[in-house]
This record gives sequence, structure tokens and C-alpha cells, in this order.
Amino acid sequence: MTIPAAPLLALDAIPDGGFAEVEALVDGEPESLVLHRDGGEVRGWLNVCPHAGRRLDWAPGQFLKSREGLLVCAAHGASFELRGGECVAGPCRGEALRAVALSVREGMVELGTAD
Ligand code: FES
Repeated sequence: MTIPAAPLLALDAIPDGGFAEVEALVDGEPESLVLHRDGGEVRGWLNVCPHAGRRLDWAPGQFLKSREGLLVCAAHGASFELRGGECVAGPCRGEALRAVALSVREGMVELGTAD
């Protein structure tokens, strides 16, 4: 099934190496997403921690990044690597964030894969 691309925000609105939070419809449900920019690429996951289902940010759009470059859940400190979203330390070690398909086109981050 083709998922129509939906623009979320400008790539430049996310600091390189940093995060942004957006609201979007995923499978027809409104969801909060965490986006992570890595140069010209953006990866994204549902903003839901696999440990206890809490949001990862401590205030909307405010995410913690460890010195080791991990995304840290503000609730109980689960730490996620930023390629596959796998929890590598903390209470849900071995679980993973739920990825959402994103693409970057003409400077805009879009939900869904290109074409
Ligand atoms: S809800 Fe994220 S570590 Fe507990």
C-alpha cells in the first residue's frame, strides 16, 4: 500500500544532531512523533517509550541526549540508540521505539516514503 507523503516540517527546523516533536496522523490515529536529524537524513519514531508508555520528552519537543549520543527517556532514563531506536540501557533494554517512515524532499520532512 502506498502511503501518501505528508509534509511535517522543514529539515532546517531541526538542529543537526538534535530532535523535534511533531503531531501527525499515523495509521489514522493522531500521534506525537520524535524526529532526529542526522545531516540530511531524518529518522522518526512514535514519542512513546516502550517501558511504561510515557512520552520521551520532559516538555513538548524537549528531548534529552546523553553524552554518548543516546536519546534518554525523561521518565525513567531508558536510553535509545538513534539508528534503529533500540533501547540499549535502562528498564526496557532490548526493546525498541516504533519507527515511522520518513523522507526528505525539497527541504521538507515528509511522513511516508518517497514515491
Ligand atoms: S517510561 Fe520511559 S523509561 Fe519508563
